[in-house]
Amino acid sequence: MDLIQKLQPQIKKIKTINHGLGFEMSCNLEVANLCAIVARGCHGNWLELGTGTGLSTLFLAEVLEAGRLDTVDVNEEYSKADQSVIGPKQGLQFIVEDGGDFLSSCRPQAYNFVFADAWPGKYSHLHLVLNTLVVGGLYFIDDLLPQSNWPNHHQLKVDALLSFFNQLDSFAISHLHWGSGCAVITKLKEDTFATELIEREDYKFLFSEETF
Ligand SMILES: C[S@@+](CC[C@H](N)C(=O)[O-])C[C@H]1O[C@@H](n2cnc3c(N)ncnc32)[C@H](O)[C@@H]1O
Repeated sequence: MDLIQKLQPQIKKIKTINHGLGFEMSCNLEVANLCAIVARGCHGNWLELGTGTGLSTLFLAEVLEAGRLDTVDVNEEYSKADQSVIGPKQGLQFIVEDGGDFLSSCRPQAYNFVFADAWPGKYSHLHLVLNTLVVGGLYFIDDLLPQSNWPNHHQLKVDALLSFFNQLDSFAISHLHWGSGCAVITKLKEDTFATELIEREDYKFLFSEETF
């Protein structure tokens, strides 16, 4: 089945909503599709950080079976728009909260799959999001290839994030130079986040608990 084809009616509605709200941060369609297919291989509970207007949520919800999908965004207007398109679905929970606050209240190993598409859980609060992942779980990120709307020096943050995972024995990373640029990362064993890495000046921002 081609999910992109199947979901065309809802994708069109989301595009209309995006136009009305001036929202330009939706996931690349191919990336949303890959994200959902990767998630489907992870049984249990899934977390999405950065619901936006729901394009990636739409794909994840479509393949959600027995587990739970918690999707978090700080913006209530976006969350309401998503719910109007995706509607209620067993296991799907829309959460309007700051991602950092949400992660601070998560228990360890709560999720089998995490799609981090907001600042918290990707460029801050990284230790919290990785603690909330089970061993064997997958952490999926996108927007790793240069984009015209990137703030100054964002490339340095992307490079630091990827290099952090490359240094850790407890995670394995596959970096795909495709779509908007994705990485699929698996947790091989529980990590205490070797202090020498956390304390490195170029990685410190990843563990900051400030929300931008
Ligand atoms: C790249 S967009 C997500 C796109 C979404 N996955 C989609 O396909 O439409 C990033 C989202 O993160 C949200 N966001 C920004 N800061 C946040 C924060 N501190 N906590 C939670 N969400 C935040 C924004 O409101 C925005 O919707």
